[in-house]
Amino acid sequence: MFKYLLGCLLVLACFSFSTVVTRFKEEKPTPIPPSKQRSGDAAEGYRYLTTGDYVKGGLPYDFYLMGLGASKTNYLKREGLNGNVNHDYSVVKAPNGENLVAPNCMQCHAQVFDSTLIMGLGNTFLDFSNDQRFNPQTMVLLENLLQKSSPQKYQASLPFITVIKTVSPMLSTKVRGVNTADRLTAVLAAHRDPATFKWIDKAQFEIPDEVIPTDVPAWWLLKKKNAMFHNGFGRGDFGRFLMMSNLLTVTDTAESREVDSHFNNVLAYIRSIQPPKYPKAVDKTLAGEGEKVFNNYCSKCHGKYGEAPEYPNLIVPESIIKTDSLLFTSNYQNPQLINWFNNSWFAKGDHPAKLVPSNGYVAPPLDGVWITAPYLHNGSVPTIEALLNSKLRPTYWQRDFTHPVYDYDKLGWVYEQKAAAGNNTVYNTTLKGYGNYGHYFGDKLTDDERKAVIEYLKTL
Ligand code: HEC
Ligand code: HEC
Repeated sequence: MFKYLLGCLLVLACFSFSTVVTRFKEEKPTPIPPSKQRSGDAAEGYRYLTTGDYVKGGLPYDFYLMGLGASKTNYLKREGLNGNVNHDYSVVKAPNGENLVAPNCMQCHAQVFDSTLIMGLGNTFLDFSNDQRFNPQTMVLLENLLQKSSPQKYQASLPFITVIKTVSPMLSTKVRGVNTADRLTAVLAAHRDPATFKWIDKAQFEIPDEVIPTDVPAWWLLKKKNAMFHNGFGRGDFGRFLMMSNLLTVTDTAESREVDSHFNNVLAYIRSIQPPKYPKAVDKTLAGEGEKVFNNYCSKCHGKYGEAPEYPNLIVPESIIKTDSLLFTSNYQNPQLINWFNNSWFAKGDHPAKLVPSNGYVAPPLDGVWITAPYLHNGSVPTIEALLNSKLRPTYWQRDFTHPVYDYDKLGWVYEQKAAAGNNTVYNTTLKGYGNYGHYFGDKLTDDERKAVIEYLKTL
């Protein structure tokens, strides 16, 4: 009798195990639950974002001016010393009173488009290929120069120089226009004690060789999202993730606490940003037809727009989305950053954050999507026309970074298709992590339906 029962239990166990496995195979898009956010003052957040010292390290102000010259644009209409530096740097004070120029969030989160600076638009002009950002050799030269000419200035910028020399050789991408912020975070984490944030010269965990390329999401989408980042792994208090740049040169957690106390306001500002309006004429009738097609084929993942907006906050698993999986699978294969983060100061206190790996990508809101080319999480598809018709996606494509031209019909960058890989301005979709496959939902549509959907997307 006892044996029989035991057998039954085992069978039951096997049975329930197999249902779990089958469920995993027939995965569905999963909704992400909301988490509580701090409230704040948007105007104060903007002031802090554009003039605050959340990155407290940098290069001496007069060296910056000698190297780059005073900014002629002053897009942000900043006053004082900030008025002389580009919008993607801010002037901060070193503990010894020296003025330093520190990189700010707008390095990656603002972009000049048709001669206007668009705050919150992901910058797809940065060049992380061939160590172009903060080239380590330049840093060594600068260090020698500073040591000889000005001990005060050298002392003030040493923390920044030390960090940049360590991290910049590890951030090289294969092409221009993609970002490596995730890797920057992982490298910084490896060199910082999770509890105290003290700098440790020797990396505490190994980081894989691969630099995974990402496209920078537009800030105006965050107000709809329940989780941050392409794979939706940023959960809990968003302010904690927003302040992550502070890790670059942070001294201790007393500094982190002070910086953190501003990021409720930065979140309020980011949530207040509206997407830029499509500037050309829209065919209203065609867009109306496109809305119907969109609501039939796309809105179950991307939500509804207009009078009664809805957004389902879904993570779409690999089996359905089929786009390049390297970004989210790396979280399972190399969970070091996740473990570090979830045991760090960021995951503690009364408004903690945590990283939760997922098995796919967030279906993003499409507000202002007309201006956010290139598309997909790795920026591998140059236009929406090509995103919605996979036959048109170029394997190798090149855009003009010096004189960029936008295609207001196909919605994306004017590009030239190439027969083979080339220099760093040619996007190469055959590289690992740079794939342009997946998201085949537009292939089901007729040419007329696709045209109509594109017209509709211009209105979002
Ligand atoms: C070196 C470039 C870089 C800098 C500097 C940077 N970010 Fe980001 N940021 C990124 C990239 C890349 C992503 C997307 C990463 C991903 O999803 O895998 C991102 C994601 C975000 C997101 C998430 C958007 C979403 O919809 O999920 C927000 C918000 C954000 N950053 C805010 C900030 C703030 C605030 C600062 C300054 C304190 C900052 N970032 C500095 C590159 C940068
Ligand atoms: C099953 C869910 C699902 C359906 C249906 C779907 N999408 Fe998507 N879409 C996604 C996901 C997930 C991504 C992000 C994929 C990635 O980055 O790898 C995405 C990305 C996009 C992007 C690129 C956004 C960006 O900024 O890079 C556009 C544009 C888009 N979808 C439009 C559409 C349109 C139009 C339709 C209908 C024809 C559609 N989608 C149907 C899930 C879906």
